Amino acid sequence: MKGIIACEYSGTVRDAFIKMGHEMLSCDLLSTDSPGPHYTGNVFDVIDYPWDFGGFHFPCTDGSVSGARHFAAKKMDGRFYASASLWMHGWRRSRHIKAGYFEHPISVMSSVFRKPDQILQPWMFGHYETKATCLWLWGDLPLLVPTYRTPEECREALGLPPGTKPEARIHLMPPSEDRWKKRSTTFPLVAAAFAEQWGGSPQLELEAA
Ligand SMILES: C[S@@+](CC[C@H](N)C(=O)[O-])C[C@H]1O[C@@H](n2cnc3c(N)ncnc32)[C@H](O)[C@@H]1O
Repeated sequence: MKGIIACEYSGTVRDAFIKMGHEMLSCDLLSTDSPGPHYTGNVFDVIDYPWDFGGFHFPCTDGSVSGARHFAAKKMDGRFYASASLWMHGWRRSRHIKAGYFEHPISVMSSVFRKPDQILQPWMFGHYETKATCLWLWGDLPLLVPTYRTPEECREALGLPPGTKPEARIHLMPPSEDRWKKRSTTFPLVAAAFAEQWGGSPQLELEAA
């Protein structure tokens, strides 16, 4: 199938799908950190191509619930509405794509748009960290099946000592220029689960044939 991963500079999800044999393009206003098929520019330049699959990682800076204390100021200067509007614009413009997902942290989109279909944690897929990630799906994509049902299962599989708690990566990172990038890069094992569980979807394969 042919797919686009929008708002992705890291190439993580793009490369996981390429590994599964798909034709993929990542797209971001920034150039890609990992050489591969990438459009540096606005997602709306390439969104109307007849894609079979789409993954969308729109920015969350102005709508994430972790920044709720700034909502009043962001409503005053419009950033709150602009951020939700960009997301909604992406949702509307991607309705021709057969199947896909929108990803966001716990954010205002759960009330402005609708509740997510699934909320993931990185420990479910083998990264012993916490970072709630919401997914809104379409095109009959199944909910992802986690590798681990509890943090404890993940901890044991990784051989970490009992009592070790999964932590939010952001709390362990020292301040740096690219801290935001490291923080927002998709976890590779989560990307692999997307590609393995959705990239092999018989429905998509049939439609793409
Ligand atoms: C939260 S980050 C997502 C990063 C992604 N998870 C990754 O692993 O690369 C959001 C990205 O959206 C990009 N972005 C924002 N508006 C965009 C637009 N209109 N077209 C393309 N990319 C856009 C930003 O440059 C930023 O890199």
